[in-house]
Amino acid sequence: MTTEPLIRNISDTALWVAMYRAWETEQPSPVFRDPWARRLAGARGEEIMSKIKVAHRHAWSYTARTYNIDSFVTQEIANGADMVIDLAAGLDTRPYRMRLPSSLQWIEIELPELLTYKDEVLKGEKPVCRLERIPLDLANAGARRVLFEELGRAAKRAVIISEGLIVYLTADEVSNLARDLAAPASFQRWATDLCSPRLLTMLQKQVGSQLGQAGAPLKFAPEQGPAFFTEYGWTPIDVRSMLQTAAALKRLPLLMRLFALFPDTKGTKPKQIWGGVVQLEKRWAPTTT
Ligand SMILES: C[S@@+](CC[C@H](N)C(=O)[O-])C[C@H]1O[C@@H](n2cnc3c(N)ncnc32)[C@H](O)[C@@H]1O
Repeated sequence: MTTEPLIRNISDTALWVAMYRAWETEQPSPVFRDPWARRLAGARGEEIMSKIKVAHRHAWSYTARTYNIDSFVTQEIANGADMVIDLAAGLDTRPYRMRLPSSLQWIEIELPELLTYKDEVLKGEKPVCRLERIPLDLANAGARRVLFEELGRAAKRAVIISEGLIVYLTADEVSNLARDLAAPASFQRWATDLCSPRLLTMLQKQVGSQLGQAGAPLKFAPEQGPAFFTEYGWTPIDVRSMLQTAAALKRLPLLMRLFALFPDTKGTKPKQIWGGVVQLEKRWAPTTT
């Protein structure tokens, strides 16, 4: 008899992350409210969270990540963005829960199966802006280039967000993605989460086996930190540490509050154990291969 693994594939990690948003929403004074998160996470999301005990300890970092990306989106809309492209959008509900201009184009790119599930759960709900869901495997370089070109033509100033995506890619895959994102002239800024090699090692010890079994091993944590992207046209203009953000939001457990007394970034240069959200600005477009 074969039993199904707890995390069946990479898309199940979206159920897991939705559970963190449900937890934050259920706090007495939530940093953000995602009323759909628990429904989207479903029974499997709850099961993942209850069986992976260590997952509870990481809740603060997801609240911080969500908060940092929300702030980035708000800032970029104030800077004139007319399109947000969410790569590997998972079960994110920003186009429903954030205050956004009704004219904003919001593009979600995700694997087809998860998008079908999301459509079904959110059926009847109304986004506040112009939302389009595009089923696509981002590993398909040819198809993504065509899509980016098309989106590039439709936008005056597009910003990209990616959360919980690049950590699953190799350095080569991330550099190719970065090059492709730099190609359309209207793609201007990109916010992504990033972890340091030390943090990656810690995460691999804690949750690596479950993710590995699901065919989604954690891989990407460049030695250079955010500077990794410079070679591909993207200059880091801001880094926001998850630890410091969570401390400011009063979401850290006691022990972590002690760590937070010491800065883990210096300008846009993170120190050793570091996870954060990096804001990148496109300065030039490298030639694609
Ligand atoms: C950890 S989840 C994060 C989801 C969402 N960004 C969030 O923060 O809630 C990772 C997501 O990446 C998606 N994903 C992974 N590889 C992908 C690919 N090649 N193309 C499109 N989506 C992908 C998965 O389906 C999953 O929803």
